[in-house]
Amino acid sequence: MLSESEQRELDKHLEKYPDKRSAILPALHIVQRRQNYLTDDDIRDVAQALDLNITEVQAIVGFYTLFRKEPTGKYIIEVCTDLPCALRGADEFYHRLCERLGLPPEGGTTDDGLFTVEEVVCLAACDKAPVAQINLEYYENLTDEGIDAVISGLRDDSEEGVGGE
Ligand code: FES
Repeated sequence: MLSESEQRELDKHLEKYPDKRSAILPALHIVQRRQNYLTDDDIRDVAQALDLNITEVQAIVGFYTLFRKEPTGKYIIEVCTDLPCALRGADEFYHRLCERLGLPPEGGTTDDGLFTVEEVVCLAACDKAPVAQINLEYYENLTDEGIDAVISGLRDDSEEGVGGE
């Protein structure tokens, strides 16, 4: 079941759509914010809120990589290592990043649960490699120092968020 605030937020989206089904994506984003990934219960909540079959909602979740079925870090750092970016050093950049965060070469989630690092295919910024998308925000022409500064800023933001709660 959606919380009152989730339902209020969903209602605002529903005002824009004549068909409840059209609000699946925003509804999934709303419930994914609960813990940064979607459980079976979250998917059931969306299906109930929109009067849809659970299978329909699961199909959407399976189609879009933005929806996660496993726990992830608060910040998801997706680095493109597709061929054009690899030719500009993205592979090495990725592996150095994993190493500095204490992760295996294939990526993963940091012990503090703050960062998940993973390789992705083309982010449509091939001429600006190395490029990363962090929680939907693009960072281009990255250097080791550049991404370290971004990560440090996110760490600070996260600590301020904890202190301010
Ligand atoms: Fe990396 Fe296109 S191949 S952004």
